[in-house]
Amino acid sequence: METCPRREISLRKVNAMRVKITLPSLQQAKAYLEAGERRNPGGWVAHSVHVAEAAAAIAARHPRLDPQAARVLGLLHDIGRREGLTGMRHVLDGYRFLLREGFPDAARICLTHSFPIPDVYAGSSEWDCTPEELHFVQDYLDRTTFDEYDRLFQLCDSLALPTGFCLLEKRWVDVLIRYENFNRFTIPKWKAIFRIKSDFENTIGCSVYQLLPGVVENTFGF
Ligand SMILES: [Fe+2]
Repeated sequence: METCPRREISLRKVNAMRVKITLPSLQQAKAYLEAGERRNPGGWVAHSVHVAEAAAAIAARHPRLDPQAARVLGLLHDIGRREGLTGMRHVLDGYRFLLREGFPDAARICLTHSFPIPDVYAGSSEWDCTPEELHFVQDYLDRTTFDEYDRLFQLCDSLALPTGFCLLEKRWVDVLIRYENFNRFTIPKWKAIFRIKSDFENTIGCSVYQLLPGVVENTFGF
């Protein structure tokens, strides 16, 4: 068993009460990501690092989010990719991995970040799991009321390519070209992400793009 330095942060609101959640330390999150990269090298690792940076930058301006927690959660949101080249089952693999490691709140982000629309078929690629597993994910989404961390990663997942930060629309087209999975949820999902972006911008008082160094260059390929 790997040693897991833990950090308790009082930040999740449940029934108007702030409760403590336990996350891996930043050092442990980086170690998980590096181990995942050794198992399955790919663009998902650099994407995760940029998602973490975007989330931390937004959280630093947000009154109810913790930047270090955001960075840790961002590094781990796609950790299910450690299991290999998979479709949507990476969200379930990530959830199970972090649950086994004792981090249910980080595990939660693995499952929720892909579903601004809480329907299993709103994911970006095909499902590659059993009907029972699919039912589990839908049930989990049905039982979960998204909080600001869930929404933060539903947004930030679309703000980063492996090469750096980008316009939301660039990431969406990149994903569509790779997975060819346009369906009845695609447009509602994009609209939901636009709403999340707008809500965060109203709270932090600026455009999220102002917080992302190199976003113009990376989006337009300068
Ligand atoms: Fe991601």
